[in-house]
Amino acid sequence: MLDAYYSMTEQHRQHVARVPKRTLDPSDWRAHRDVAHRALDEMLDYQQGVADGPAWRAVPAELDAEYQTPAPLEAQGIERAYDDFLRLVMPYPTGNAHPRFWGWVPGQGTPGGLIAALLAGGMNNVSGQFNDGASRVHDQVITWMIDAMGFPTTASGILTSGGSVANLVGIAVGRDAQAGFDTVAGGLAGEDALRVYGSVETHSSVVKAAQLLGIGRDNVVLVPINDRFEIDAAALAEAIQRDRKAGHRPAVLIGNAGTVGTGATDDLDLLADIAADANLWFHVDGAFGAIAAWSDETRHLVRGLDRADSLAFDLHKWTSVPYDVGCVLVRDADAHHRSFASAANYLEPLDRGTAAVQDPTNGRGLQLSRGFRALKVWMSIKEHGMARFGEVAADCVRQTSEFSALVERRDDLELMAPAPMCIACFRYAPRGVPDDQLDGLNREILMRLQEEGIAVPSSTRIDGSFALRVANTNHRTTFADLEHLAEETVRLGRSIYAGN
Ligand SMILES: Cc1ncc(COP(=O)(O)O)c(C=O)c1O
Repeated sequence: MLDAYYSMTEQHRQHVARVPKRTLDPSDWRAHRDVAHRALDEMLDYQQGVADGPAWRAVPAELDAEYQTPAPLEAQGIERAYDDFLRLVMPYPTGNAHPRFWGWVPGQGTPGGLIAALLAGGMNNVSGQFNDGASRVHDQVITWMIDAMGFPTTASGILTSGGSVANLVGIAVGRDAQAGFDTVAGGLAGEDALRVYGSVETHSSVVKAAQLLGIGRDNVVLVPINDRFEIDAAALAEAIQRDRKAGHRPAVLIGNAGTVGTGATDDLDLLADIAADANLWFHVDGAFGAIAAWSDETRHLVRGLDRADSLAFDLHKWTSVPYDVGCVLVRDADAHHRSFASAANYLEPLDRGTAAVQDPTNGRGLQLSRGFRALKVWMSIKEHGMARFGEVAADCVRQTSEFSALVERRDDLELMAPAPMCIACFRYAPRGVPDDQLDGLNREILMRLQEEGIAVPSSTRIDGSFALRVANTNHRTTFADLEHLAEETVRLGRSIYAGN
């Protein structure tokens, strides 16, 4: 390159030096400033008035073509980009900001979170790897999480994109720590099968993690549950023994702190004992349920969670930090680093300057470049205080228990599973409707609840039957919202059964 430069004529060199550099900065900063202010107001208006709109609205088919236009070659400008957002995106949100959105496990976001997301986007730190404020904020958040979850101060942790990656990281460390051979250097080839255990209610991300980590889906042993939807400890002990006899290597035990299906929590104290006796890594998936540990009122629901070797949980679910942000904590910091540390010429830490960082996040997870997720958590916690998140969780648990009682009192609704935390599974099942019609009827009710913008529960299957599933991790939900759901479920059920 330089040779070519020096061989240019003087005239050519001067020409090159004079060609203005093209940049992505605006020529008119005023226009960006105007759009930015309008956008912020629009988002605050949305959050403030979200309850007045529908819980969900379908994208009209007439707009389909608009999402298929090719990428513009020429600039259209920020105003046009923003107008397109207002027309094509903003009117059709997923709906999870709404007080009657209870599908899957929703987080709503907050106005403060919006501000933090804006600031993180504006600063655009390449977080974690460098000697900067963002790294310090990340590690301060991890220290806060370690404290909130009752882990030892020597534990390690990292913010992730969510619970799935948090599970992946925790199980990776468990695999490497318990394999009995060098998985990090040599992989798994030719070795005895490693086995992971969890109840049949274990989240699919755990199975996916086992697939990705070379453990294999078939080596995740899904153990039966009792009538509270918690792992059957005797069946677990048998499975471990059977596997050892068969020459497999039991490695990781998953404890659920709030299953995605019904919100059940395994007996984590007992599982910690079993893991210690059987020399297994004890990973707890507390994607939403772990937050119950933040309130005196609900901590008992997840007793034993602080005995995990690794704990995965989300901050974008029950604490409503804007998507996406999860967290994994690992009790043994050395084990955590052994699984993820890597060396590269271009990443050598220096004693001073930008690269002077002691414990880069790169050595604690998959990502090198990462966005500044920590700011959203840090500012949310400063804004609300840790206690408020626990209070919200406790309120949601109380509401869910009252909603379950309401369902049980009605003879046209049926509670389909215990609801110990923030999830209730139920269906419309009045006397007289044949059993074999209930699945179809409730599936239609669910779609109409969503299409009419009334509410967004999701579904699951309980003992094979279709259930409406309400995951009340929603800080905006009032009990009147849940009463409305019950009324509307019955109204729709009657109307659909009558053939309308
Ligand atoms: C129990 C459980 N584990 C893991 C996950 C995955 O978390 P994420 O969606 O943040 O990847 C979920 C998501 O709902 C969950 O409920």
